[in-house]
Amino acid sequence: MRRVGLWVVVLVVAAAVAGLVGASPASGLVLADEGGGGGGAGGRSFDGGAVRGEFPCGSHTARSRSCEEMNGSGSFDTTCVIGSSSSLDGDLCVYGDGSVVISPHVKIICPVAGCYIAINVSGSITIGEHVDLIAGSVSLYATNVSLDQRSTVNTTGLAGEPPPQTSGTPHSLEGAGGGHGGRGASCKVSNDTNWGGDVYAWSTLAWPWSYGSKGGSMAADHQFGGDGGGRVMLRASEFMNVDGDVLAEGGVGSLKGGGGSGGSIMIYAFKLYGNGTISAAGGNGWGGGGGGRISLDCYSIQQDLEITVHGGQSFGCPQNAGAAGTIYESSLQTLKVTGQIRLLSKGSISFGLSENPISEFELVAEELLMSDSVIKVYGAFRMYVKVLLMWDSEIQIDGGGKDVVLASMLEARNLVVLRHGSVISSNAALGVYGQGLLNLTGPGDGIKARRLFLSLFYNIEVGPGSFVQAPLDDAVQSSLDALSRCESKTCPSELITPPDDCHVNNSLSFTLQVARKALGKGSFSNMELVVVLGMGAGVA
Ligand SMILES: *[C@@H]1O[C@H](CO)[C@@H](O)[C@H](O)[C@H]1NC(C)=O
Ligand SMILES: *[C@@H]1O[C@H](CO)[C@@H](O)[C@H](O)[C@H]1NC(C)=O
Ligand SMILES: *[C@@H]1O[C@H](CO)[C@@H](O)[C@H](O)[C@H]1NC(C)=O
Ligand SMILES: *[C@@H]1O[C@H](CO)[C@@H](O)[C@H](O)[C@H]1NC(C)=O
Ligand SMILES: *[C@@H]1O[C@H](CO)[C@@H](O)[C@H](O)[C@H]1NC(C)=O
Ligand SMILES: *[C@@H]1O[C@H](CO)[C@@H](O)[C@H](O)[C@H]1NC(C)=O
Ligand SMILES: *[C@@H]1O[C@H](CO)[C@@H](O)[C@H](O)[C@H]1NC(C)=O
Ligand SMILES: *[C@@H]1O[C@H](CO)[C@@H](O)[C@H](O)[C@H]1NC(C)=O
Repeated sequence: MRRVGLWVVVLVVAAAVAGLVGASPASGLVLADEGGGGGGAGGRSFDGGAVRGEFPCGSHTARSRSCEEMNGSGSFDTTCVIGSSSSLDGDLCVYGDGSVVISPHVKIICPVAGCYIAINVSGSITIGEHVDLIAGSVSLYATNVSLDQRSTVNTTGLAGEPPPQTSGTPHSLEGAGGGHGGRGASCKVSNDTNWGGDVYAWSTLAWPWSYGSKGGSMAADHQFGGDGGGRVMLRASEFMNVDGDVLAEGGVGSLKGGGGSGGSIMIYAFKLYGNGTISAAGGNGWGGGGGGRISLDCYSIQQDLEITVHGGQSFGCPQNAGAAGTIYESSLQTLKVTGQIRLLSKGSISFGLSENPISEFELVAEELLMSDSVIKVYGAFRMYVKVLLMWDSEIQIDGGGKDVVLASMLEARNLVVLRHGSVISSNAALGVYGQGLLNLTGPGDGIKARRLFLSLFYNIEVGPGSFVQAPLDDAVQSSLDALSRCESKTCPSELITPPDDCHVNNSLSFTLQVARKALGKGSFSNMELVVVLGMGAGVA
C-alpha cells in the first residue's frame, strides 16, 4: 500500500483554534447537507440532489429500528449500547437524537450486495475495537464518529449495481480487471491497449457515490471476476476519529477472473484524525481492478491516516496493475478569524495539495501566535495579521519551485517576532510586509526565499545568528530565474503595495525596503542586498 501524499488541511491544533473557529465558523467550514448551503471553500457543498434520492432511509419517516430490536440497551434518543452481533437480511436504518455505542467485538453484518446500513443520530457514534460493520453501503451521520483500532467499516466486494450505461466490467473473456476511478488492467497484449474495464463517474469526483464494477471473466458461463467495492459515507459535523479501517475495496478475482474495482468513500468532518486506513483500492485478480473514488471534505486532516485508491495487482501480468482511482480533497482556501489564531505544541495547519501546488490560500486574523508549530502551504499564501509571533515554529511555503505560482505575501502590520529558531521559508517568491517591527531575535531565526521582498518595516532587527536569505542554496537556478526577470522593466508584481516611485531593481533576488531604520546585528548570508528606499536606513 502506498501512502498518498495529498494533504489538504492538516490541523492538529490547540483547542484554542478549534474553539475559536467553532465559535465563529469560517466560511467553507460549513458542511452543508442541503444543496447550496456551503460557502467558502469553492462554494462547493454536498450535492444532495445527486445522492439523497438513493438513501433507502433518507428520512425519519423511513422505518427506523429501535435499540431493542438491535438487542441493545437504552434507546437511540438517549444512548443505545449495542452489545451483541447481528446478521441482517435487509437494510438497517437507525435514527435518533441520541448516541450509539457499538461494543468491542460486535459484528453487524449484511453480507448482501448493495445492502444498506445507515445510522443517523444527532449525538455520537462510537465503534469499539474489533467491531465489524459489513454491508454494501454504510452511512454514518453524527456529531462525532469514532472507529477504534482494528474495527472496520467494510464494504469490500459488496457492490450493488454500478451506474447504468457504464462499462466498468470488461466484456472480453480475458479476465481483465474492473474499472471505476481508474481503469482495470488487461493481460492481453496482442493489441495496443492493455486496459480492462472503463472509468466512470467522473462528474461526481467530489461526492462519489457509485459502486465499483465486477472484474471480467475468462468463461462466458461463469463469473470468475471479483466483485466491485461498495460505498461508504461518513459525516461528522465535529470530530471523526478513524483508528480502524474504512474500506470499499474491489473484491479479489482469481486465475480466471479480474479483480473488482474499488467503490466510493465520502468523508465529511470538521476534523478528521486517527491512524487508520481509508481505502477504495482495486481488487487483485488475473487483471487487477482499478481503484475507486474517495472524497474528503474536512476542515482538517491528520497526516497519520493512510488513504489509498491504488489499483489491484494482476496475477496474469504482474508488471501491469490496475490504474489508481481518484482522491478528491476539497481544500481549505481561506481561514478567517476575527481574533487570535494560536498554534501550540506540534500544531500544524496545511493548505493545498503537495502534488499540485498551484492554488492560492489566505489566512486572515488579528494575531497569529505559533509555538512549536508549523504552517505548511502548497501554493501561494496570503496572510494578513497585525501581529505574528513565532516561537520554535515554521511557516513553509512550497510553490513547487516554479514560477507559475504567484508570489506569497505575508503582511503583519504591527509586529513580527521570530524566536528560538523560527523560520519563514519559501521556495518561490515571498514578500514580507509590515509597518512596525520585524525582530529576528537570535540563532536560527530567519526568513529565506528564492526571491525575497522585505518591505516597509519601520524597524528591522536581525539578531545574532539570525538570517535573512535569498536566493536559496540552489543559487544556479535562482540566477537563471533572476536573468529571466531582467527583461521586465516594470515594477515586480511581488510588490503588492509598491512605493509611489517604483525604483526597484527587479533582477535581484533580494530586496529590502525600509521606511525608517534597520538595525542589523546578525549575518546576512548568501544574498545580494539592496536598500532601495529608506530614510536613515543602515544595515550592518
Ligand atoms: C439525517 O437526519 C437528519 C435529521 O436528523 C436529516 O436532515 C438528514 O437528511 C439525514 N441524513 C441522511 C443521510 O439520512
Ligand atoms: C436479538 O437476539 C435474539 C435472541 O438471541 C436473536 O434471535 C435476534 O436475531 C437478535 N436480533 C438482532 C437484530 O440481532
Ligand atoms: C464531540 O467531541 C467533542 C470533542 O471530544 C466533544 O467536546 C463534544 O461534546 C462531542 N459531542 C458529542 C455530541 O458527543
Ligand atoms: C473486508 O472484507 C473483505 C471481503 O469480505 C475481506 O476479504 C477483508 O479481509 C475484510 N477486511 C478487513 C480488514 O476485515
Ligand atoms: C485487435 O485489433 C484489431 C484491429 O483493430 C481487431 O480487428 C482485433 O479484433 C483486435 N483483437 C482483439 C483481441 O481485441
Ligand atoms: C493509533 O492511535 C491509537 C489511539 O491514539 C493508539 O492507541 C495506537 O497505538 C495507534 N496505532 C498505531 C499503529 O500507531
Ligand atoms: C528584539 O528582540 C530581542 C530579544 O528579545 C530584544 O532584546 C530586542 O530589544 C528586540 N528589539 C526591538 C527593537 O524591540
Ligand atoms: C540591477 O542589478 C544588476 C545586478 O547588480 C545590475 O547589473 C543592473 O544594472 C541593475 N539594474 C538597474 C536598473 O539598476
